[in-house]
Amino acid sequence: MLDSNSFLTPAQIVAELDKYIIGQHDAKRHVAIALRNRWRRLHAPADMQREIVPNNILMIGSTGVGKTEIARRLAAIADAPFTKVEASKFTEVGYVGRDVESMVRDLVEQSVNQVKQRRKEAVKVQAAQAVEDLILDALIPPVTGGGGASKSSVGFGGSLTDGSAMPESDYELNERTRDKFREKIRNGELDDRKIEIKVAQNNTPGIGVVGGAPGMDEASMAGIQDMIGAMLPKKTRKRKVTIAEARKILLDEEAAKLIDMDEVKDEAIRQAENAGIIFIDEIDKVASRSSKGGGGPDVSREGVQRDLLPIVEGSAVSTKYGVVNTDHILFIAAGAFHVAKPSDLIPELQGRFPIRVELQSLTKEDFFRILKDPKNALTKQYEALLQAEEVFLSFEDSALERLAEIAFEVNAEVENIGARRLHTVMSRLLNDILFDVPDLIGPNARIVINRELVDERLQGMVRNRDVSQYIL
Ligand SMILES: Nc1ncnc2c1ncn2[C@@H]1O[C@H](COP(=O)(O)OP(=O)(O)OP(=O)(O)O)[C@@H](O)[C@H]1O
Ligand SMILES: [Mg+2]
Repeated sequence: MLDSNSFLTPAQIVAELDKYIIGQHDAKRHVAIALRNRWRRLHAPADMQREIVPNNILMIGSTGVGKTEIARRLAAIADAPFTKVEASKFTEVGYVGRDVESMVRDLVEQSVNQVKQRRKEAVKVQAAQAVEDLILDALIPPVTGGGGASKSSVGFGGSLTDGSAMPESDYELNERTRDKFREKIRNGELDDRKIEIKVAQNNTPGIGVVGGAPGMDEASMAGIQDMIGAMLPKKTRKRKVTIAEARKILLDEEAAKLIDMDEVKDEAIRQAENAGIIFIDEIDKVASRSSKGGGGPDVSREGVQRDLLPIVEGSAVSTKYGVVNTDHILFIAAGAFHVAKPSDLIPELQGRFPIRVELQSLTKEDFFRILKDPKNALTKQYEALLQAEEVFLSFEDSALERLAEIAFEVNAEVENIGARRLHTVMSRLLNDILFDVPDLIGPNARIVINRELVDERLQGMVRNRDVSQYIL
């Protein structure tokens, strides 16, 4: 985490990214520096902290070369609140559609979830204890009322008998049984046993503020929803579930009871402001080759850019958790810029993205490595899928080379969709196998994909442009 004392160095960040993304070293270096800078800022003197603004990044590269993937992995590495939006989905304030401030509200929502999750993790042991008691109560209700409800009164009674054997009290018997069962619950021996538990019901079933009043923004609408929720009495209902299920359901509820939501909100806002990353995809779609004298869609595109400006420059956005200052949020924008160029963005916005990185087009060799190396490589994904059926799939290097070649050719001939082409090519290649398992290809089968098999299944399609256009 950013506020911890140790944080990944730029080189370590790049090494992490390398596990998932092939090539694009320039882009990786820049985002690594940007991320490390956030940590550096938080450890700078307080008066300087306010002055240091993030160097937002503009990633330029054609489709499917890894722009979104880099941003997504970066957020995972940073363990920071992250949200991804598409610039083309926004409309100018005052028009129907999403207003740009909603990206900040999304970010805070993410942040709240993250902080909540972290806090719940911290009270897990305590919550687990409470859950165990609840489950035990459901199995063997404690003895209450009457002769000896509490331990101390029984203990006192016992001491008066000075040794003479006395029949075990109900309380003691009950306690012994409970101890025995506590042991069994802990060992998971009773996991399949059904018990009845009380669970909280969702607050506002069917009550939604439909549409809201004109001019009302999402934040105030969400606020009203919450108010209605808080006004209604918290309902619980009984459910019969296995002990294993009960543990899961109750653990979440008990953990939630142990955390202070006001603290969570404050911390979440702090995290969003200082560590938050907003990724604005398709920024080129709101750039317009304007100066041709207005009219048409260009006007609203520029409107979106103008709306973006204060958020990127730093402003206060109200959310249902409180006001968020956007001064130190890191923005990464990305676009293919095939038609419009970065210089077609309004100058103020260009100035707010001082770091420009160009992503390289991927080569055949890159495709080969993308198929083989990343932790989440497609080949590994398919192998894992079939492993679930105990079918062992593997790929020879020569097959991967051929697949890379085919993907590259189709990109060149039909349309360049970058590494995304690998998805379509692979799914074509493996379609029949995926269908035949397990009916025709049973457990313990070994399937080795070699070059010949790739050619057999795909070559015809590559040759025929009309076919490959549609299915590859
Ligand atoms: N350099 C790369 N290394 C590994 N995988 C990649 C690389 N580039 C793209 N991919 C894979 O291709 C797919 C698409 O990549 P991504 O979403 O990053 O594209 P993009 O550059 O954001 O494209 P677009 O402009 O269309 O949004 C992802 O599944 C990703 O895993
Ligand atoms: Mg993308």
